[in-house]
Amino acid sequence: MLKLFDNNQAENRIKDLREKIERYNYFYYTKNESLVSDVEFDKILKELEKLEEENPHLKKENSPSKNVGAINLKESKFKKVIHKKPMLSLSNSYNIEDVIAFGERVNKNLENRYSNLEYILELKLDGASISIQYENGVLVKGVTRGDGIEGEDVTDNILAIESIPNYLKEKVDLEVRGEIVLPISQFKKLNESRLENGEDIFANPRNAASGTLRQLDANIVKERGLDAYFYFLVDAEKYDMKTHKESLEYLEKLGLKTTGIAEEITCMDVMKNRIDYWEKEKEKLDYETDGLVLKLNDISLWEEVGYTTKSPRWAIAYKFPAKQVTTLLKDITWQVGRTGKVTPVAELEEVELSGSKVKRASLHNIDEIIRKDIRIGDRVFIEKAAEIIPQVVSSVKDLRTGEEKEVIAPKDCPICNHKLEKEEGLVDLKCVNEDCPAIIQGTIEYFVSRDGMNISGFGSKIVEKMLALNYIKNISDIYKLHEHKEELITLDKMGEKSVEKLLLSIEKSKSRPYGKTLYALGIPFVGKFLGNLLSKKSENINNLEKMTKEELLSIDGVGEKVAESVYSFFRNEKSLNIVNKLKKIGINFSIENKKEEESERKVNENLFGKTFLFTGKLLKFKREEIKDLIESLGGVNSSSVNKKLNYLIVGEDAGSKLKKAQELGTVNILTEDEFIQMIK
Ligand code: IVH
Repeated sequence: MLKLFDNNQAENRIKDLREKIERYNYFYYTKNESLVSDVEFDKILKELEKLEEENPHLKKENSPSKNVGAINLKESKFKKVIHKKPMLSLSNSYNIEDVIAFGERVNKNLENRYSNLEYILELKLDGASISIQYENGVLVKGVTRGDGIEGEDVTDNILAIESIPNYLKEKVDLEVRGEIVLPISQFKKLNESRLENGEDIFANPRNAASGTLRQLDANIVKERGLDAYFYFLVDAEKYDMKTHKESLEYLEKLGLKTTGIAEEITCMDVMKNRIDYWEKEKEKLDYETDGLVLKLNDISLWEEVGYTTKSPRWAIAYKFPAKQVTTLLKDITWQVGRTGKVTPVAELEEVELSGSKVKRASLHNIDEIIRKDIRIGDRVFIEKAAEIIPQVVSSVKDLRTGEEKEVIAPKDCPICNHKLEKEEGLVDLKCVNEDCPAIIQGTIEYFVSRDGMNISGFGSKIVEKMLALNYIKNISDIYKLHEHKEELITLDKMGEKSVEKLLLSIEKSKSRPYGKTLYALGIPFVGKFLGNLLSKKSENINNLEKMTKEELLSIDGVGEKVAESVYSFFRNEKSLNIVNKLKKIGINFSIENKKEEESERKVNENLFGKTFLFTGKLLKFKREEIKDLIESLGGVNSSSVNKKLNYLIVGEDAGSKLKKAQELGTVNILTEDEFIQMIK
């Protein structure tokens, strides 16, 4: 095997890794705080294990690679209890190949005597593990995992958890292990009330569950509504259990709750399918799961397959791709969009997130950077918002070295150097120079985009080149590009075929539906939904141009901001000039291709024909975006709460609309997440 380090280097690296792991463990188990993502933690743990394997003389009994992650028991306020049997951990895997390799290892340990070993597939619950002892059917002790050997006596708190029976249905002595979780619904309520009281919120349900379990006041435990699921009967063979599945059924029979999910797996080939299935299905559960667990079903084989110091060799956890990962924030660049809005973009050390490599993430605006206290050089948690665009969630203050730099908002446009403006009451910085190259480029990209003129073969690199070569200065010039056909062909990577394709796509775009051409013009606040609505109400652009503000306001769905924006757009010399040029070119500006618009809709049966309304501040969607989405899926947007309204989607600080809907009792009230589930 190739050794990457010489002896000295290896020793230093091992020391460094051990220190890191110990520190991360301390924060995770003792302070209920994650300094790194699970994936990153496992990566450095694997590196340590490998280095120790390669350098046996540097092995140490008390290396964190040899022990399960542990709470610092010295700091614990609870009485310590030695576990009758150590509380082991599970080894983790992150891909199907590792799961298959696990199956092969088990076979090998059993000298390949069995052809079709049976495994039980369970959910991996993300909470705090617990071991509970019953004597004569009476709950006598509840102990946290601690360091796996010794845990904390949290019996009073366990007695306060409603779903854990104080008495079993049979008068037996037994020890059972499971996970204490905080249901997601309870977690949300808890954080809401902590926010109201000005207290720090919990980062996730696991931290909240683990923190709550260590409360000294059992009344708080009761209030917060912890829950528990059991997955392991200690010394199951003593109760004549032949299989793990049987032991889970026995636990249920005694009144101990299990997740009820225990699938029999006899061939690892099905695992890909089960992983895909549970990846989606888990979203419907009210508790957090971070993966799946496979356990060899036949208990009599467990001893033979064996154990490492940390985990049984007869079980493995498969971890779902992390929703959040940590990485280094190398720098912040300021991007100028089509509307002139200047947004900070996080330049990150490349990291994998939900199957794709991420190098950049959104930071929204300077106010958010200040509120979250994010500095250049910080390690940051990133996640994909509504599953698409990565964004920076938080920074890890406990990993700061003092070298981090505060972020300072620019005063001038990073592209054209024009002085930036900040509209009163708004947080966004804006470049107001209409000739700013970034604004022009953004406007063109928006115009040619799929939702706009749908001109294919017009990526941002090509737009940039054409702007630089002066072939286009504004959107109407796109329709003169054929004059440059020969030059275009010689542009690198273009070639005759792709130029012809591009020109054909440009030609075809002239007959885009009127709603789309309106959208493509980029009138501020006029997105897909409003483009469509305004096209229907005005029937052609000449009518729209003539509309007064009052007429615009009388359209259901058009508010002050939109009316003002549309009105001003058609009174601005520059934009009128472009519209007139586009008219001359023959762009379709009247309602005629109705059929095409209808057929473009991908109707969703949950939404079809149902009416929707929103209230409060939406965190995951822009209002126009969500309206477009609803319409495109066959739903109908409504403007008020009444008996005909089917769904009210509630954001933050919802007020009278929510109250009215509750009073009516006929409206389905959804959170944004529930709505996302509905359209998935
Ligand atoms: S079995 C000897 N089953 O994951 C068997 N553990 O990463 C040990 N966990 O400490 C545990 N769901 O806190 C088992 N279905 C499940 C689990 C599960 C969650 C936790 C448990 C354990 C940790 C290991």
